[in-house]
Amino acid sequence: MTDDSILPIELISATPESTERLGKLLAAELRPGDIVLLDGDLGAGKTVMTRGIAYGLGAKPNVVSPTYTLVIEHPSTGTGIDLFHFDVYRLSGAEEFLHSGLDEYFDGRGVCVVEWGEKISEAVPIDPIRVLITGTGSQRKILISFPVGQSARKDRLVKRILENDMNFK
Ligand SMILES: Nc1ncnc2c1ncn2[C@@H]1O[C@H](COP(=O)(O)OP(=O)(O)O)[C@@H](O)[C@H]1O
Ligand SMILES: [Mg+2]
Repeated sequence: MTDDSILPIELISATPESTERLGKLLAAELRPGDIVLLDGDLGAGKTVMTRGIAYGLGAKPNVVSPTYTLVIEHPSTGTGIDLFHFDVYRLSGAEEFLHSGLDEYFDGRGVCVVEWGEKISEAVPIDPIRVLITGTGSQRKILISFPVGQSARKDRLVKRILENDMNFK
């Protein structure tokens, strides 16, 4: 039996700036149709990371948590890739997400980033990229998992992180 699973990238981020920068590096690997599920407690840094992704995709840098609107659209000004930024904290789960018709955003037009994404993972039609942020104080452990069969993307991200001398342990 072969095991095709890919070990997550595991990094330590000591500042909001480096978490944002990691988001920017991840963005270079993202294409329309990708879905990124971000998880971690309140205040973990999901919105900070999304800000970096938005910046990397060429969106205007005004990313705030869409807690009251469920989704904020960020048309790209740079790479031509639109970002749809969700925060599904207030939803009961995948069923409510589907009933709201929000899965229409998963049609491949842009990159979807979902804060509290595991809550709605059953509504996600493709293998998502998963990011888990844990830790307290200013120290964060960040795990990034790519789907089975996508190790090339992981390898490119690792290379980019090393090239950028990120100082992640
Ligand atoms: N290493 C770090 N990475 C990300 N955020 C950090 C870090 N250290 C401290 N913070 C702070 O934690 C908070 C994260 O907020 P936010 O991104 O809105 O969290 P979430 O969206 O997960 O609820 C910000 O106030 C940020 O300045
Ligand atoms: Mg948030």
